[in-house]
Amino acid sequence: MAKVKITETVLRDSHQSLAATRMTTAEMIPILEALDDVGYHALEAWGGATFDSCLRFLNEDPWERLRTIRAHVKNTKLQMLFRGQNILGYRHYADDVVEYFVQKSIANGIDIIRIFDALNDPRNLKTAINATKKEGGHVQVAFSYTTSPVHNNDYFAKLAKDMESMGADSICIKDMSGLLLPYDAYDLVKKLKASVKVPIELHTHYTAGVASMTTMKAIEAGVDIIDTAISPFAMGTSQPATEPIVAALAGTEFDTGLDLEKLNVVSKYFDTIREKYLESGLINPKVLKVDVNALRYQVPGGMLSNLVSQLKQAGKLDQLDEVLAEVPRVRADAGYPPLVTPTSQIVGTQAVFNVISGERYKIVTKEFKGIVHGDYGTTPVPIADAFKKQILGNEKPITCRPADNIKPELSSLREKVKPYMEQEEDVLTYALFEQVATKFFEDRKARLYELDGANADKDLGVHSV
Ligand code: CO
Repeated sequence: MAKVKITETVLRDSHQSLAATRMTTAEMIPILEALDDVGYHALEAWGGATFDSCLRFLNEDPWERLRTIRAHVKNTKLQMLFRGQNILGYRHYADDVVEYFVQKSIANGIDIIRIFDALNDPRNLKTAINATKKEGGHVQVAFSYTTSPVHNNDYFAKLAKDMESMGADSICIKDMSGLLLPYDAYDLVKKLKASVKVPIELHTHYTAGVASMTTMKAIEAGVDIIDTAISPFAMGTSQPATEPIVAALAGTEFDTGLDLEKLNVVSKYFDTIREKYLESGLINPKVLKVDVNALRYQVPGGMLSNLVSQLKQAGKLDQLDEVLAEVPRVRADAGYPPLVTPTSQIVGTQAVFNVISGERYKIVTKEFKGIVHGDYGTTPVPIADAFKKQILGNEKPITCRPADNIKPELSSLREKVKPYMEQEEDVLTYALFEQVATKFFEDRKARLYELDGANADKDLGVHSV
């Protein structure tokens, strides 16, 4: 019958959510074969913030991580998270960079690419979708789930239909803030199943404490795949735990077919990593606690803590309630963007300025202006002309796909990265994070020198570079 498939997130989202994306490749290697042996539908193992974190904090080559994981995981599909035209970075990139990144991701071992856009603007997904198709990868298109006067389940059912016609091989409900409630999930999955033929996957977060219930109702409504994390890296701001769901479904029509004994091998290993992270402070017990604020204010947990810290810095923490009331107004003015990176920060910061300056839009941030200008794509609801005029003055907003204004970048990037180039992929690393990549390349060069020197001392006669 309707067997439910599981995507395990421990190698990507769960440590991104609980431990600031700091899990190292060395910590992953000893358990990769056991993970492969479980029989998961997929392992979410790359993309999202892992790429940046490898370079910035761990001094690791993210491409090397991917190849290492692939070498140990021979049977299970590897999945990555891909932010549309932003790839894994924070701006829009030219089409040739997006295409080449997809090509190299698949060449280095990725099977499934989960592609999303903060605004759910299909034009920002198009290049990545087409490139994945061309390379023979599985295209999973995710929509950023949110609630607003325009965002309801019918809206998402129509959006999913558009995504299917653009080439999605599966559709993912991406509930990045854990706002999706169980009975809404039931209705949403029913509507999606009626609207599209491709499999539906649910990605949610435990932040507000409802994720297991939401997952269960989604399963009853016929969801095909669910995202879970092995228990030591589950719950809190991460995903629901894998083992309780496997146990709950065992022997029912939704049986996952996964073996609790095999999961226990994985769980025991990650227990030791969790203990280590708790001891070092990498996992803050605060993120493990149910945070109902997301449900009270309809803002992501991370956004709320940003607002608090911004107000604290300005010495205006007493105005938090006003800022929280201002957030939905700013969001409405900006055409109801889903609140996810980067829109959550942009809307939040603008709301703070509107309140502490004593006059709405007296100070307008560059980024907020960018949303109104169309630099991030089309907003779910058109922004009122009068508001555009107020924010932009005489400057004309753009209506084209933002990347249409970006010339091909690869050949000039290739020139710039030449002095550091050790592998083809370096040009992509550089394209995404120019400064961080340069520092990483310099460190890498220095390490190679050291290695060379050491070898020369020992008179090995062989220099591997
Ligand atoms: Co997530």
